[in-house]
Amino acid sequence: MPATTSVTLNTGAVMPTVGLGTWKSKPGQVEHAVEFALKNGYKHIDTAAGYQNEAEVGQGIKASGLPREQIFLTTKLDNPDQRHPAKALEASLKKLDTPYLDLWLMHWPAPMTTDGKPDRGHDWLDTWKTMEDLYLAHPEKIKAIGVSNFSVEYFERLLKVARVVPAVNQIELHPSCPQDDVVGYCQDKGIVLTAYSPLGSDNSPLLTNETVTKIAAKYGVQSANVLVSLHANKPMHTVLPKSVTNERILNNAKILDLTPEEISELHDIDKTHHFRACHPSWTGFGGLGFPDCK
Ligand code: A2P
Repeated sequence: MPATTSVTLNTGAVMPTVGLGTWKSKPGQVEHAVEFALKNGYKHIDTAAGYQNEAEVGQGIKASGLPREQIFLTTKLDNPDQRHPAKALEASLKKLDTPYLDLWLMHWPAPMTTDGKPDRGHDWLDTWKTMEDLYLAHPEKIKAIGVSNFSVEYFERLLKVARVVPAVNQIELHPSCPQDDVVGYCQDKGIVLTAYSPLGSDNSPLLTNETVTKIAAKYGVQSANVLVSLHANKPMHTVLPKSVTNERILNNAKILDLTPEEISELHDIDKTHHFRACHPSWTGFGGLGFPDCK
């Protein structure tokens, strides 16, 4: 299939395929990155309360001069805020200086205390119920809700009781972490996948992987273009390359059509070079049901 430029969520809203990722984008760098991206064709920005850069992301949006309604903006409920989502929502809206979010995600199914320990006295399912309540009561503030870092095991528990099917599951996706099981599961349920760390994050071996560089050479593009395009070539996928560097921000938005053979070659990388840039065990809840993390 030709690469997409947007996907439609189960709410009917349109989400641009490529968004600017901001995980690890520091205050002092991220405002400019967001402004530059929006002035140069990006219409989709992803942040999170946990990245501690929402205020700067909001300033970048303002500085771009783009009307808010032309931008798809995602932020995430931080793990230590799972006991008080309403307060956290207001804090995110204030920092981002926006009246509404296009997408609000539960960042991890992993409630935590403010000192970084697992909060075992609180159930993430109750957090989801509160997020649903807020979404249903305040459509003017939240256009869609979804999840992040959810495995099939965790979805099975969620979907048994959910009143609102998540619009999106944002997970780590790249050729060394293809997660076919949860990808197929979400596609079956009409849940859009968003790929974070599509390049493999900082100092990624994927940028010099011989399969990736071979395909990049064939099209005369950078490895990053192949890695970002991989997701744009799949149904119901969006993708968040992160950069704070002007030329990379410009470059990463260039998407190519890949052949089915190239997609399959890229997928084979995982067989010998599997890794995760962000292992879920940092939350204190183990592998969170991901088969490669058991
Ligand atoms: P920087 O932000 O300094 O430009 P991911 O999207 O997988 O999280 O990867 C982000 C990492 O990849 C960052 O270190 C980012 O650096 C770097 N990066 C982003 N775009 C490119 C590119 N086109 N070529 C090489 N490295 C890139």
